[in-house]
Amino acid sequence: MKIFETHAHYDDEAFREDREALFDEMFANDIDTIINVGASFAGCEQSVALADSHEKIYAAVGIHPEDVEELTEARMAWLKKTASENEKVLAIGEIGLDYHYPEPAKEIQQQWFRRQLNLAADVKKTVIIHSREACQDTLACMRAEHAEQIGGVIHCYSYSKEAAQEFLKMGFYFGFGGVVTFKNAKKAKETARQIPLERILLETDSPYMAPTPFRGKRNNSAYIDYVAQEIADLKGISKEEVIAVTEENAKKLFAII
Ligand code: NI
Repeated sequence: MKIFETHAHYDDEAFREDREALFDEMFANDIDTIINVGASFAGCEQSVALADSHEKIYAAVGIHPEDVEELTEARMAWLKKTASENEKVLAIGEIGLDYHYPEPAKEIQQQWFRRQLNLAADVKKTVIIHSREACQDTLACMRAEHAEQIGGVIHCYSYSKEAAQEFLKMGFYFGFGGVVTFKNAKKAKETARQIPLERILLETDSPYMAPTPFRGKRNNSAYIDYVAQEIADLKGISKEEVIAVTEENAKKLFAII
C-alpha cells in the first residue's frame, strides 16, 4: 500500500533524536509521500531543507495564524520566491485563522491570511488552511480572495457537515487525522461519513494529534493507518480503498504525477 501523508511537521524538535531513522522505517513500509508543512518562518526554512534532502518529502511554506506577527515584507518575498522557484514546494501553508487564543488580533490574522491566499494565487500553488473557531471569517476571507480559483485543503477539519458544504462548493478538500478516531469526536465522524471519499485527504499533523490508541503520545505518519481504518469503517468500505483513493486525491490536488 502507498500512503500519502499530506500534513506533518518533522521539523519539530520532538523528532530531533530519531528523525532520519523514522523516515527510513516509514519509507521502507507503507508511507510513500510526505508533505512537511511550515508553520513558523523557521519551520518553513526547515521544511524546504527536509524536502531538498529527501526524495519522498515535499514542502509547504506559509505562516500559521498564531505565528503571523513574525511576518514581514522581506519574509513574504522569501515565501514567494521559494514557492515559485523550488519544485518541491507544493503548497502555501499552513495559513488561516485561529481564534482559540485572543492573540494575534483577528484583524491581523485576517490581513495575513488574505495576503497569503493572494500569494498562492500569484505563484499558482494550492493552499493548506488551518481554521479553528473561525469558520465564518475563514469562508469570508476565502471568498474575498477567490479561493475557488486557488484550491486547497481544510486541514484537520473541525466544523459541521453543513459548513463542509460551503467548502465543498469552493472545490476544497478535507484533511482528516487522529481526531476522527477519538471516541467523542462525533462531529468529525459524521462529517467524514458524509463527505465524498474523492474529497478526503489523510494527514497526521505529527507530532500532534496521535490517533487512538496512541492519543496524547508523539504522533508519526505510520499511525495514519488507524485514520484510514476509521474512515473505512465510517463509510463501510475497505481500508485499501480509502488509502488508494486518498492518494489519488492528494496527487491531483498537489499536482504530483
Ligand atoms: Ni499542522
